[in-house]
Amino acid sequence: MSKALAGVRILDFTHVQSGPTCTQLLAWFGADVIKVERAGIGDITREQLRDIPDADSLYFTMLNHNKRSVTIDTKNPEGKKVLESLVKSCDVLVENFAPGALDRMGFTWERIQELNPKMIVASVKGFGPGPYEDCKVYENVAQCAGGAASTTGFDDGPPVVSGAQIGDSGTGLHLALGIVTALYQRNATGRGQKVLAAMQDGVLNLCRVKLRDQQRLERTGVMKEYPQYPNGEFGEAVPRAGNASGGGQPGWILKCKGWETDPNAYIYFITQAPVWGEICKVIGKPEWIDHPNFSTAAARLPHLKDIFAEIEQWTMTKTKFEAMEILNQHDIPCGPILSMKEIAEDTSLRKTGTIVEVDHPVRGKYLTVGNPIKLSDSPTDVTRSPLLGEHTDEVMTELGYTADQIATLRSLGAI
Ligand code: COA
Repeated sequence: MSKALAGVRILDFTHVQSGPTCTQLLAWFGADVIKVERAGIGDITREQLRDIPDADSLYFTMLNHNKRSVTIDTKNPEGKKVLESLVKSCDVLVENFAPGALDRMGFTWERIQELNPKMIVASVKGFGPGPYEDCKVYENVAQCAGGAASTTGFDDGPPVVSGAQIGDSGTGLHLALGIVTALYQRNATGRGQKVLAAMQDGVLNLCRVKLRDQQRLERTGVMKEYPQYPNGEFGEAVPRAGNASGGGQPGWILKCKGWETDPNAYIYFITQAPVWGEICKVIGKPEWIDHPNFSTAAARLPHLKDIFAEIEQWTMTKTKFEAMEILNQHDIPCGPILSMKEIAEDTSLRKTGTIVEVDHPVRGKYLTVGNPIKLSDSPTDVTRSPLLGEHTDEVMTELGYTADQIATLRSLGAI
């Protein structure tokens, strides 16, 4: 079966996590992704957080599947020429260098346009134009500057960053959408364009509901679904809401059987209004169905703590999986807190290709997260990440270089 992005060539000048997440997705959709790295060094993550000496780290392998790797020293005059031929032959250049690095290499937007007016130049930067535009940024900086950290955690504790890499992988996702959109527009205009995804903007986009709450707070002074209500104080800014639901149906994390020894014996329980009667019956409180303190969603808001304490008395008698089974029979929305160990062993995630086992010539077999986006006419086959420079000769030959020319460029340190 053909792939959705077959025929699209990506000059992948990305490193670490945000950019590679984006180009990996494009590769999974069928684009030919050519990753440019420095000879002998490569993407810094190849050797970061290594678990096997001399093998590319899981950090690298899990972000660079289905790509080809070529080594080019883009500061070497001959290397620059090779990069120029790549620019001429590719559709998209993706990069996430520190601000200004591409310009310093001599590859300004104007120069790239001169070489290839159809080229789309897609960048991840920490910040958009403004006071911080020149700053280098990593994941947690973006989570802090994008509003995630100030709204995550418990009210009596410090700001907390999420385990979900919303700054890096989240921005990579945003960039991928920008790239396919620019490719689509190019069909009509014949022109390339610049695509920018700033990490602060990407995180803020994912924290949209908190900006919603900021405005609600300023208007009403109170947010009745937050754990601070009714006994705590609200300040000027949206407070941390612990495990409260971000939507209109109150939820909380509750202990399940075994919580004393298992740090993940918990369930997320949502007191969805349409099934309130069912919830009361399941937890053995049928009298709450018509009780004035509990019968309506509005009446329940000041009593959420008591309600969740009572439900927890029930969930503590069940494992998280037993509770899930029973609650779903009554259409009560809930979700077990799954550990990474449980997820890694989950057979249904393996079946759908969301968790994939990959074989690598140096490190052997390892698990990775496959393509979370499933296209019925463009299935994803996850293939291992490339070794450093594995495809240099192959790509150079495709660009029209002879074996002698390749050998000369190698002896000059250009590739
Ligand atoms: N040949 C020669 N030089 C190369 C090269 C190649 N193939 N590839 C990269 N380089 C050079 C760059 O030109 C740059 O040189 P310069 O500083 O002299 O201009 C240098 O390598 C380092 O690039 P830089 O991006 O500054 O790396 P860093 O390790 O110092 O910073 C980040 C890393 C992630 C902080 C930074 O790249 C950044 O802020 N990126 C944007 C935001 C982002 O994506 N952050 C999340 C990363 S997951």
